[in-house]
Amino acid sequence: MKSSFLEKALSRSEKLTKEQIRILLGEVVDANDKLEAALQSMYDGIVVCDLYHEPLFMNKSAERILRIQGTWEGAPLWMSLADEELKDFFYKSLTSEETIMGKEFALQSSGGTRIVAISLSVLISDKGISGTLIHIEDITEKRKRETQLRRAESLAALTTLAAGVAHEINNPLGSISIRIQLLEKLIKAESRNAPAMLKHLGVVNEEIDRLKHIVVDFLFAVRPMDIQLLSENPAEVMEEIAELVQPEVEKQGIALRLELGKNLPQLLMDKRHIKQALINLIQNALAAMTEGGILGLKAEYRDDEVQISVSDTGTGIPEELLTKIFEPYFTTKKSGTGLGLTITFKIIKEHSGDISLESKEGRGSTFTIHLPVPQAEKKSLPRWQDSATDAGSHKEV
Ligand SMILES: Nc1ncnc2c1ncn2[C@@H]1O[C@H](COP(=O)(O)OP(=O)(O)OP(=O)(O)O)[C@@H](O)[C@H]1O
Ligand SMILES: [Mg+2]
Repeated sequence: MKSSFLEKALSRSEKLTKEQIRILLGEVVDANDKLEAALQSMYDGIVVCDLYHEPLFMNKSAERILRIQGTWEGAPLWMSLADEELKDFFYKSLTSEETIMGKEFALQSSGGTRIVAISLSVLISDKGISGTLIHIEDITEKRKRETQLRRAESLAALTTLAAGVAHEINNPLGSISIRIQLLEKLIKAESRNAPAMLKHLGVVNEEIDRLKHIVVDFLFAVRPMDIQLLSENPAEVMEEIAELVQPEVEKQGIALRLELGKNLPQLLMDKRHIKQALINLIQNALAAMTEGGILGLKAEYRDDEVQISVSDTGTGIPEELLTKIFEPYFTTKKSGTGLGLTITFKIIKEHSGDISLESKEGRGSTFTIHLPVPQAEKKSLPRWQDSATDAGSHKEV
């Protein structure tokens, strides 16, 4: 910020009158205020530390993301942090004066887990190294968009998969035609060979069954859906689903917890398909709870959308699989097709909705379907209904 004008003034400071110094200081303060206002209004977090790793400046975003409580002045940065992992990271990287580019952390905030990328670089002034500049970027939304893009791509890949399926179909077809040729030969030679003929026919039947399976599953996943959107009451849909799955849930020794927000708005949906989407999620949830647990079904009106979640207290999903599970044919189950979530995703997309997911290994998973509220419904609802404080009904079934 040192301008050549200021430098010149500084070199002649003895010759300046009091009034000139006052004007000059006024300008410096002004420029400083502007710079500080710009840094304070940044969405990214900025921290400047001196050579003793004590913060000289920290903007509001940095205080919020790092969850600094109280003052950060007069102590090395890591001393003001509560999060052990961050403490350790800043201690090690600041004391070793390393340059770090975008090291990622998953931090807990009041609104859930946020992913932040932290970069450290040395602060160089005319007199050499004078400290460290820390840049903190919240990349949660960026990551979400990337995941969504990947999912959309994998849906597009479904179509390409048609080629793969055609190939799969070709193999049993080849085998079928060989068996048929063999049969023809046998029949031509003599019909005494009935047992051999039946054996070939048995194989032919098996291959045909295999083909049917491949084709039926595949068609279900790629077929354009015949979606008929009607105005429906989401609470009613949830109650019907709960009733439908209750016997299976009970059989597995699992408790069902149904939570319905008050005044859920009517939604445009194809009830049959939405039910299918939910059942796919519930089946996965039940499969993840082999030793009992709680199946949560919840619907609430939040942030201008209805959020319907299916949660379980089961195995959870390892982080490295989180981006894979929506891919067609991805399964970890012996008898799974790996199309359950693909179909659910497709149904939700047909409703202009979205699906998000939180999972912790060993703890369980929550899949949340976000469905838009039609404009007309929004207008007829007072804003105060749109809130997380919406008590609603809550029952253990
Ligand atoms: N609630 C959950 N808990 C743990 N893992 C899950 C959960 N939901 C999905 N998964 C994982 O995602 C994979 C893909 O799920 P998807 O429903 O697409 O197929 P599937 O359940 O394996 O097969 P299908 O639905 O055809 O029976 C599962 O195999 C499982 O590994
Ligand atoms: Mg499934």
